[in-house]
Amino acid sequence: MRRGLPRELLLAARRPVFALDATRLRRYWNGGDVIMSHLFNAGSILFEVGERFFIDVLREHGDSLTVASLQEQVRGFIGQEANHRRVHVDYNNTLAQLGYEVDALRRRTAGVLSHYREKASPLMQLAMVAGCEHLTASLSSCALSNDAWLGAAQAKDDAEVARFWRWHCAEEIEHKTVVLDVYRARGGGYWRRVYAYLRVTRLFFGSANRNLVHLLRHDGQLFAPRIVWRALVVMLVRPGALWQLFRRWAAYFLPGYDPGAHDEGCLIQPVLQHLQWSAPDQAITGQGEAS
Ligand SMILES: [Fe+2]
Ligand SMILES: [Fe+2]
Repeated sequence: MRRGLPRELLLAARRPVFALDATRLRRYWNGGDVIMSHLFNAGSILFEVGERFFIDVLREHGDSLTVASLQEQVRGFIGQEANHRRVHVDYNNTLAQLGYEVDALRRRTAGVLSHYREKASPLMQLAMVAGCEHLTASLSSCALSNDAWLGAAQAKDDAEVARFWRWHCAEEIEHKTVVLDVYRARGGGYWRRVYAYLRVTRLFFGSANRNLVHLLRHDGQLFAPRIVWRALVVMLVRPGALWQLFRRWAAYFLPGYDPGAHDEGCLIQPVLQHLQWSAPDQAITGQGEAS
């Protein structure tokens, strides 16, 4: 049985099947809720590019680690992120077919990240990925612990999109310790970690917000009063995203912070047990990642 503390276990790179083509992915798949649908849609555009960055950075460090078990964790991490990214590419291509300027949004985030790939030191890049991974694990924990995030997607095709997001969230929680462990194994310290975290917090939410604004503007909904009201409710009341996230976000500032100390197996086990696989559950090497 897979638990919420993945250090002791091989991470499996699963490849469940999701049907996210244009005939199935409605733009407001999350119960017809514009804000709750586009929050995830904006995230999908960000993750496709961001996960490419995570994989590239971790590949540089994985083979030089002296602890074999951590090397294995890195291979599992790369395999999981590669599979997430693959589905996000399909998802985002479908968003493009719906008329959104996905390519321009991808290019913008990719440009920022390629700047860091060229200019930042390898250890700083690793600190940035560790910070991003804390953000994704925190958001995933929010999404799986409160049904207000994904529970409205009821129709069969909408539920498929929610199923995809739950899988992604579960694996983000499952591999939440890996990058921070690598960062520390490579000699990374507290202040660099915190500095990188502040930078990626701005980058992560700035990019997600830009994507969200584009999606809403395209739909002619950007300043519609009911949309603004709904966004306030989501942030402050139900699910209360701001409050839910803040506590998790702030925990990263603790010296010696250990994401593995908080066992979230009860959140991820129900999700992983109900997936249908296209390939058997397996520990893989991370090879075969699409470029
Ligand atoms: Fe991911
Ligand atoms: Fe991740």
